[in-house]
Amino acid sequence: VSLERFNTLGIDVQARYFTEVKSLDQLTQALDWARQRSLEVLVLGGGSNLVFAGNVEGLVVRIAMAGRQWADVNDDHAKLVLGAGERWHDAVIYAAKAGYRGIENLALIPGTAGAAPVQNIGAYGVELKDTLTEVVAWDRETSAVVTLSVDECQFGYRDSLFKRCPERYIILEISLCLSRSAPLNLGYGELQAYFSERQSSDALTALDVAEGVVAIRRRKLPDPESLPNVGSFFKNPVVPLPTWDRLRQEFPEIAAYPAEHSVKLAAAWLIDQCGWKGYRNERVGVHSRQALVLVNHAGGNGTDILDLANRIRADVRSRFGVELEMEPRVVPAPARV
Ligand code: EPU
Repeated sequence: VSLERFNTLGIDVQARYFTEVKSLDQLTQALDWARQRSLEVLVLGGGSNLVFAGNVEGLVVRIAMAGRQWADVNDDHAKLVLGAGERWHDAVIYAAKAGYRGIENLALIPGTAGAAPVQNIGAYGVELKDTLTEVVAWDRETSAVVTLSVDECQFGYRDSLFKRCPERYIILEISLCLSRSAPLNLGYGELQAYFSERQSSDALTALDVAEGVVAIRRRKLPDPESLPNVGSFFKNPVVPLPTWDRLRQEFPEIAAYPAEHSVKLAAAWLIDQCGWKGYRNERVGVHSRQALVLVNHAGGNGTDILDLANRIRADVRSRFGVELEMEPRVVPAPARV
């Protein structure tokens, strides 16, 4: 089975076996089937955060559990329970239309609800962990359904327990705590600028904010449907204060965000300064409006993308002495050297 349609970088690799599961029963049957044949299992959501470096010899299981339910509704708050296979962006619009706030800044992020906790998706000053209350998952180690609290998920910047143990948990369902009256989060520079040009923020709804985020993202991030990509290809590197002081002296224009006892550098700026923005070869390149996004122009494979990523990393290392860490997962995982 070709996986080209199942990864947003559009890399054409083959899976030996492929199945889609819509329930826990179907999932455990697929896992049993693979175990009996000693096959590796790769679990896939929207395929928007991985790079296929080669064919998948085992079974690919695409998670397609549907479901949107409201629970624990009171005057202000409500819990929204999403099946892992729900499209994340559709859930954002659904919640915003219902008048609930909390995830509107995360509009237009590709992928599924079940994949959202894996990298703790974040944008425009909001992260999933800010509203997520629990994750229901299949624990492959104990063969049981487990419920993990937000603390147990060990969220960090683009990081979680699920990202660190990709073989152990398969997310089935996530719960979010949303509110009708929580303040909207308009602090991120671009979002502030967008709304100050348009209307006073007093009258804004969650849906207005979601629509603003969609407009901002469309301006600079390529739509994977027309230009295959996985969003930001690198994390924004977090550096200690002494490194920040050194960099700031040498490069006064450097773009960064303050973090706790450290500083998060804008990787896009570092890459841009090295002249990579808009670069392309026959197959792959760097997006012309956001240097942090690598794109597949025409039939690029995992090696093309990873070679380009390594050249960019080498340039950023030699110019700034900063190491860029890749954001998407590489499958099959490269051998450690
Ligand atoms: N910049 C450049 N050149 C560019 C693009 C940006 O110099 O080509 C500089 C600008 O100074 C800009 C700064 O970098 O102010 C930051 O750029 P931007 O606001 O686009 O955000 P980012 O730090 O590059 C992060 C997330 C995005 C998220 C945006 C908005 C990471 C790795 N990326 O990007 O997430 O949408 O902030 O919150 O944290 C993703 O993870 O796939 C993703 C798109």
